[in-house]
Amino acid sequence: MTHVAVLPGDGIGPEVTAQAIRVLDALGIAHSEHAFGGNAILSQGMPLPDETLAACMAADAVLLGAVGLPELEGKPVRPEQGLLGLRKELGVYANLRPARGPGIDMMIVRELVGGLYFGAKGVRDDGTWFDTCEYSRPEVERIARRGFEIARARGGRLTSVDKVNVMHTSRLWRDVVTELGAADYPDVRLDHALVDSFAMTIVQAPETIDTVLTENTFGDILSDVAAAVTGGLGLAASASLADDGPGLFEPVHGSAPQIAGQGIANPAGMLRSLAMLLAYGLGRHDEAADVERAVETALAEAPTPDLGGAATTSGFGDAVLRALAAAPG
Ligand code: NAD
Ligand code: IPM
Ligand code: MN
Repeated sequence: MTHVAVLPGDGIGPEVTAQAIRVLDALGIAHSEHAFGGNAILSQGMPLPDETLAACMAADAVLLGAVGLPELEGKPVRPEQGLLGLRKELGVYANLRPARGPGIDMMIVRELVGGLYFGAKGVRDDGTWFDTCEYSRPEVERIARRGFEIARARGGRLTSVDKVNVMHTSRLWRDVVTELGAADYPDVRLDHALVDSFAMTIVQAPETIDTVLTENTFGDILSDVAAAVTGGLGLAASASLADDGPGLFEPVHGSAPQIAGQGIANPAGMLRSLAMLLAYGLGRHDEAADVERAVETALAEAPTPDLGGAATTSGFGDAVLRALAAAPG
C-alpha cells in the first residue's frame, strides 16, 4: 500500500504540514509522522534519527515541512545538517523549483547533493575556516541530463547558470552541459548565463525564462529570488528526485520563526509540494491537478496575511478541502 513519510519539522513546518495531512487523509493516502530537525536535536540529540531515516527509505515519498530553530543557529549540531543528510541518503540530486505568475512560468533545476554544500570543509592549523566547491563529471552530467529532459518537456529552452569567469568548477559545468546538449539534445535551445547578471534577469525579465539548470548554492539563492517575483516564499514548492527510490517534497521556505505559533503561515507552498509529490512521487497526476486547482481557488478565496489577506493557515486549508470536495471525479 502507498505510504508517505511525513516530517513536520520546526517553526511553521508543523503548521503548514497539518494542512497537507488533511489533504492526504481526504485522498485516502496512508502516512506516518517522524521526528526531524531541531525538535529531534532537542529530544534525541540528533537532527536525523535512525528511525526517521529508515521510515523515509521505506516510504513511497517523503513530505517535509521545514527545519530550523533560532536557538540552534551556528551550533555544532544543527537542524539543517539533518536535511542535508537526508538529501544525501536519499540521493535526491535533482531539485525542481517551479515559479509561476502572470506571464511567468520558469522551472529551476538545482543540483542538490554536491557543490559547495558537500565539498571538503574545516579549519586549517593557521585558523582559517574553509568550504570547497567540488564537482565530478558524472555529477554534472546526471543533473544536466535532467535539465535537458525537463526543458524538452516544457518550452524547449534551457539556460545553464554558472560563474565560469571565476570558478574552476564552472568550467567543468559549462563544458559538460555544452557537450551533452550537442550530443543528445540538439532540439533543446541551450544558452549560458553568469549567475550575478542572471539574478538580475529573474527580477527584471522573469517572463523570458524557461528552464534553468544550476549548481546547489546558486540554485538555493536564485530560487528564493524567483519565489519573490512570483508572489513570495509562501507560494513556492519543490520536488527533490533521485533516479530511483522515494523523492523528497518540501516547500522552498524555511521555519519562519518570526511568525511561528500564530497560525498565519501560508500553506500554499506546502500544498503545491504535495501536488508535486502526487505527480512525481506517486504518479497520481489527476489528483495532483485537483490539488493544484484547489490551491488556486483558495488563493482567490482565502489569502493569508503574506498575500495581503486575513485568512489563517487552517482557514486556507478549509478552502482547499472545500474545493477538492467540489472537484469532479
Ligand atoms: P524563511 O523562509 O523561514 O523566512 C523568510 C521570510 O519569509 C520571513 O519573513 C518569513 O516570515 C516569510 N515566510 C516564509 N515562509 C512563509 C509562509 N509559508 N507564509 C508566510 N510567510 C512566510 O527563511 P529564514 O528566515 O532565512 O530561515 C529561517 C530558518 O529556516 C533557518 O533556520 C533556516 O535554516 C531554515 N530554513 C529551512 C528550510 C527547509 O527546511 N527546507 C528552508 C529554508 C530555510
Ligand atoms: C532550502 C534551504 C536549505 C538549503 C537549508 C535549510 C539547508 O535553504 O531548501 O532552500 O540551503 O538547501
Ligand atoms: Mn533556501
